[in-house]
Amino acid sequence: KTVAVLFGGCSTEYEVSLKSACSVIEHLDHEKYQIILLGITRHGEWLKFDGELNEILKDTWSTHKSCVPAVISPDRTTRGLLVMNGGVLQKLPIDVVFPVLHGKNGEDGTMQGLLELAGIPFAGCGTLSSALCMDKDIAHRLAALEGIKITRSAILNLPSYHFDNDPSRELAEILKTETAEMRYPLFVKPANAGSSFGITKVDIPEDLITAVRAAAYHDSKILVEEAVTGFEVGCAVLGNDVLTIGDLDEIELSGGFFNFKEKYTLETSKIHLPARIDEETTRRIKESAAVVYKALGCRGFARVDFFLTPNGEIYFNEVNTIPGFTDHSRYPSMLKNIGISFGQLLDELIRLAVK
Ligand code: DAL
Ligand code: MG
Repeated sequence: KTVAVLFGGCSTEYEVSLKSACSVIEHLDHEKYQIILLGITRHGEWLKFDGELNEILKDTWSTHKSCVPAVISPDRTTRGLLVMNGGVLQKLPIDVVFPVLHGKNGEDGTMQGLLELAGIPFAGCGTLSSALCMDKDIAHRLAALEGIKITRSAILNLPSYHFDNDPSRELAEILKTETAEMRYPLFVKPANAGSSFGITKVDIPEDLITAVRAAAYHDSKILVEEAVTGFEVGCAVLGNDVLTIGDLDEIELSGGFFNFKEKYTLETSKIHLPARIDEETTRRIKESAAVVYKALGCRGFARVDFFLTPNGEIYFNEVNTIPGFTDHSRYPSMLKNIGISFGQLLDELIRLAVK
């Protein structure tokens, strides 16, 4: 099979994708699959790349001499790439695409829409499901309809917000009204973003407006949520109809929250795998993860994150439809813990894509 690995992307999580993609490429069975590397720069330029993995890790790949312009052809008679080679346009058929892209323009349904249009099978969730999961507000609403607990939140829609013409007073009034009933600390999040970009924990009302501005930089739709006491638990789900669920992991924090720096340095936080949770609670969390996964129409794989309170309540946080995928990332680690190696996981994701 010819497998195209998509990496990079026009997203704030571009660098995370480079790391995830390198692990995926390294662990794919190079005898079983013919692997094609298709990178997207942070500005959105598409290039077929044929160099070494460390060029991707160092982010020098896009200037490598092997790079030629190449795009997924939306024309379904191609079922593959259009590659510009020495001034000649060539068609390169692809059996499966593995989009190792995080965040906007990759994990949010846009890429999935293109692949569906192109008629090329791909690993992971489809267009609608990816878009639903990327929007934390919509994902919450749909999970709540299935009886899953979500924290109290307010939604701010600021489509005409301009940084250079900041209507601070108006915004302050809106915030006051919308959050009047809410208990601090609050989390302010862009509705659509990943790796905690644009997220701020707010302890006092005076700091709310700065946090909203930081989130508005990423998205015009903003979520203000009450913090849930307790800790975050992740759940790796694998499958289309029959689901395999990995061991749960647990984030132990000593700082304020699991922000971008902590996610990738673990300076003051610790990930426990398996989570230090009793059997019955573990069972309830896995069950909730399966409910959320189905409610949001997921297929292939996703990491479903919850908060567990000290008195055993389970709150849904979010679904990551293309979670971090390095060797030491949470999703592959949770499955490795139940005996599924990275290589086996990739085989299964490709099998599920064409099923
Ligand atoms: N958004 C990052 C990659 C994650 O969820 O793991
Ligand atoms: Mg995320």
